[in-house]
Amino acid sequence: MSEFPDDIYTEPAEVDPDTLSNLGPLRPLAGIWEGIKGLDVNPKPEGPERQAFIERMELQPIDPQANGPQLLYGLHYVTRIVKPGEVETYHHQTGYWLWEPATGVIMQTLAIPRAQVALAGGRAAADATQFEVSARRGDTAFGICSGPFLEHAFRTDSYRIVVTVNPDGSWSYDEVTVLVVRGQSEPFMHTDRNTLRRIGDPTPNPLMRG
Ligand code: HEM
Repeated sequence: MSEFPDDIYTEPAEVDPDTLSNLGPLRPLAGIWEGIKGLDVNPKPEGPERQAFIERMELQPIDPQANGPQLLYGLHYVTRIVKPGEVETYHHQTGYWLWEPATGVIMQTLAIPRAQVALAGGRAAADATQFEVSARRGDTAFGICSGPFLEHAFRTDSYRIVVTVNPDGSWSYDEVTVLVVRGQSEPFMHTDRNTLRRIGDPTPNPLMRG
């Protein structure tokens, strides 16, 4: 038995155009954010490198997306990370956080300019203040796809992020990306965490503005 309806074409008749009111647990993430206490642990030939970082992330509501009967509300995000006091981008990432109100499914797409993309999934209650999504290499739904060099030298086997919305309105993430680095016998835990404080409000989605 499939969890999906037989009719895969008919879209919902009534769609609320107000994305910000339909984001479930993603609602507290909408806006513009800064985090000055990030910590990255990444693979270097001599062993794990721990690096403090500063982050600016923007998460803006997009118009409701219907795939036949599936209705998703979401945020387009882009983040840029630098080392303290530096200009050069240390990490860049973009994608969507998506929420399906009918099922409680959360999905995150991510693309990073190392030639790598992932789609991570999870479930949460609409009022959850903590949720997680994960992806696994080889999974055709919630998977990870890397370019040939990364597959060869830094194979990415899994990714998991836990998001926590804090009582003061800030939010934190804690993520682990498991890498199989060529020449190393043990998998490498590439971890990142930060707490984001609001520096700007979200802009309503185009359909609401129009
Ligand atoms: C805040 C988030 C992140 C930061 C700051 C960050 C930073 C870094 C840094 C500094 C390196 C080492 C680069 C080098 O030595 O050339 C690295 C390596 C890597 N990262 Fe991340 N990363 C983050 C998240 C992610 C995520 C979410 C993924 C994938 C799901 C990922 C995949 C990789 C891979 C595959 C490598 C090995 C390739 C390489 O070293 O060139 N990273 N990361």
